[in-house]
Amino acid sequence: MKIAVSGKGGVGKTSITAWLGDYLARRGEKVWMVDADTALSLGQASGLERVQLPEPLTQRASLIEERIRPAGQGGMMDLDPHVSDLPEALSAVLPESDSAVPMRGEKRLLVMGPLTNAGGGCACESNALLKALLAHMVLERREWVLVDMEAGVEHLGRGTAAHVDALLVVSEPSMRSLETAAEVARMAGDLGLRRQVLVLNKATPQQVASLPPLAGLPGQRLCLPDLEPLRQRQLYSGSVLGLGREAEKTLDAFCAALLRQLEGTARPAE
Ligand SMILES: Nc1ncnc2c1ncn2[C@@H]1O[C@H](COP(=O)(O)OP(=O)(O)O)[C@@H](O)[C@H]1O
Ligand SMILES: [Mg+2]
Repeated sequence: MKIAVSGKGGVGKTSITAWLGDYLARRGEKVWMVDADTALSLGQASGLERVQLPEPLTQRASLIEERIRPAGQGGMMDLDPHVSDLPEALSAVLPESDSAVPMRGEKRLLVMGPLTNAGGGCACESNALLKALLAHMVLERREWVLVDMEAGVEHLGRGTAAHVDALLVVSEPSMRSLETAAEVARMAGDLGLRRQVLVLNKATPQQVASLPPLAGLPGQRLCLPDLEPLRQRQLYSGSVLGLGREAEKTLDAFCAALLRQLEGTARPAE
């Protein structure tokens, strides 16, 4: 299944992507974790040290040049660049988290880097390669793909968005992040990504049941409580994994409920 995660900054997109990826890998799945946010924090949230992070795709000038303007094409841009080898070549294996359930599957991290403002030459070239790689991940790969994005789904493009199985729209119980959530959901719907679940993070079931009637908010809703062990931990660690037994139980129940909802929302795997 291919899942994209979007919403306002700071609402918990990266944490939720890391938790879901870890849950799946502990249950034997192979998971691609794609960091498509400019903040580049999915690796650290998943327990990688800063120095272990793979270099972002959009910063790799020579690779972008080689794939987008291949030799022998007179400097013409290749609109369908060869990318199928890149996930393996550019990704890092994510470490096993400290959990009661051992990791039987695998998690790999692929870092896209900023969409515009590219370090590797012309922005339009790096964007073209990034979009081609995301399209490959969503359309061609059989494994799980979780894409941690910014507030918006522009990275996906119309052709790719329509093939994403579900969008998690993450929000806090606040008017401003709910307004962003509604906007993101509407934009994604316009791109053809209509299978959406609203995840209300750091929230109670009562808050989920009494959300303001904002046009565009996904009708399927789920909440995740505020996790005290994470609040204590985040001051000195970037990882959101291995928060202890109680938090793990809460997160496992959340991931299981989310996957049940997604299975109900998403079309069957091809
Ligand atoms: N359920 C939660 N309970 C407590 N803290 C949380 C929870 N979810 C996320 N956080 C914290 O909130 C902050 C923002 O989370 P993050 O996942 O980085 O958001 P985003 O990716 O949307 O910007 C981080 O410090 C994270 O540790
Ligand atoms: Mg983030």
